[in-house]
Amino acid sequence: MKKKKPDEKLWGGRFAVGADPLMEEYTASVHVDKRLYAFDIRGSIAHAKMLHKIGLLSGRERDVLVRGLKEIREEIESRRFRFKPSLEDVHMNIEARLTKKVGEVGKKLHTARSRNDQVALDLRMYVKDEIVQVISRLCTLQQALLGLAERNRDIVFPGYTHLQQAQPVLLAHHLLAYVGMFERDKERLRDAHKRTDVMPLGSGALAGTSIPIDREFVAKELGFSRISDNSIDAVSDRDFAIEYLSGLTLIGMHLSRLAEELVIWSSSEFDFIEIGDAFCTGSSMLPQKKNPDVPELARGKSGRLLGNLVSLVTTMKGLPLSYNRDMQEDKLPVFESTDIIKGTLDVFSKMMETVQVKTDSIADALRGGYMQAVDLAEYLVKKGIPFRESHRIVGKIVSYAIEKGKALEELSGEELRQFCEHFGEDAVKLLNVRVSVRSKTSPGGTAPRGVAARIRSWKTRLSKEG
Ligand code: ARG
Repeated sequence: MKKKKPDEKLWGGRFAVGADPLMEEYTASVHVDKRLYAFDIRGSIAHAKMLHKIGLLSGRERDVLVRGLKEIREEIESRRFRFKPSLEDVHMNIEARLTKKVGEVGKKLHTARSRNDQVALDLRMYVKDEIVQVISRLCTLQQALLGLAERNRDIVFPGYTHLQQAQPVLLAHHLLAYVGMFERDKERLRDAHKRTDVMPLGSGALAGTSIPIDREFVAKELGFSRISDNSIDAVSDRDFAIEYLSGLTLIGMHLSRLAEELVIWSSSEFDFIEIGDAFCTGSSMLPQKKNPDVPELARGKSGRLLGNLVSLVTTMKGLPLSYNRDMQEDKLPVFESTDIIKGTLDVFSKMMETVQVKTDSIADALRGGYMQAVDLAEYLVKKGIPFRESHRIVGKIVSYAIEKGKALEELSGEELRQFCEHFGEDAVKLLNVRVSVRSKTSPGGTAPRGVAARIRSWKTRLSKEG
């Protein structure tokens, strides 16, 4: 590639020598930031209208610019637009094309504007838009989980701590834990949205401008609730993108935990669920295999989400005010994490619909897990025995049962009384896992009545949103 004359650049005025092709290639970002084209064009249309409102563009000039910008949008959408790396980024590609299309008046568009506030505007518009889309996908996944919980509302399930059987719970209760996590994720994104919803255009390169611009007008045109109040901060702040990435990382972390459980539950050792064939893959060598690749990849991709968050925080942490070109590296992590999260939420929502719960093997797993032990201890507490003492007594009962090769539910009242005279015949009933679950009536506990009420309230809540 031969060196171009400096004047071919939109900023070429002060340069004596043309750009080196290697430098152009290294600094170009258009292959990444062209994704912002629709926001860039909307921002430019609002800016042109404002320039007319303050008398810097005639009505005709404004119309020519707006029409030109809309045509460029069509060219891009019908793939007739050729993005040129030599024009660095999406902003200059669009501006150069505009001037080529509409002539001299195109050169007026960049009045009172810098790419620094322009790119901040575009990225804020993009993040606002994606937050809304991610929240709606989170709702869909919550609904899928709720459906699975409802279809299996009576299933008693082993609850784990340390991945050791701990206490029987309702499977529905377990699934609602994820519905709650995704609700917090939505709240976090809504909160991030408030701080993203600040309009930076009109900050210029960093200091503002001497031109009497109307920033409130632009904010209104573009649906922002307020304008930024410090031009230096406005062009150099990427907190909103970091908050967004951190919200996406937490969603990814929650999805990864769910994924891990799906992988474990579908192993032949657990055999608690079967994921539909349409969402599993086979092995190229082992004919019998049916692999849970979707949850595995979700678990894997959660690492990239965290990587992207760390990447942007690291890019930002050493930068002096205000704008620095380093900040051009902000877009890739933001775009990539957005794609990962939207893709994972979409596939998970569909996959959860295909999950079959294997009630027989769950019932098998519940047998002999000694998970009702604490219920016996709480029985003795109700008879006035201090918890530490009843804990010790029941510990002895468990080791007696293990020694005899019996499950807890196979013990008789008489056997219990060998360890403590306070055990009545009613204590034997407690050894049933369903009775155990029914007894957890404390607020937030797994008792079926409470779980059913929470399923109902989630349903109403989510149907209002969706
Ligand atoms: N492509 C740049 C970015 O994404 C736009 C702003 C460039 N500003 C500048 N003065 N070079 O950050």
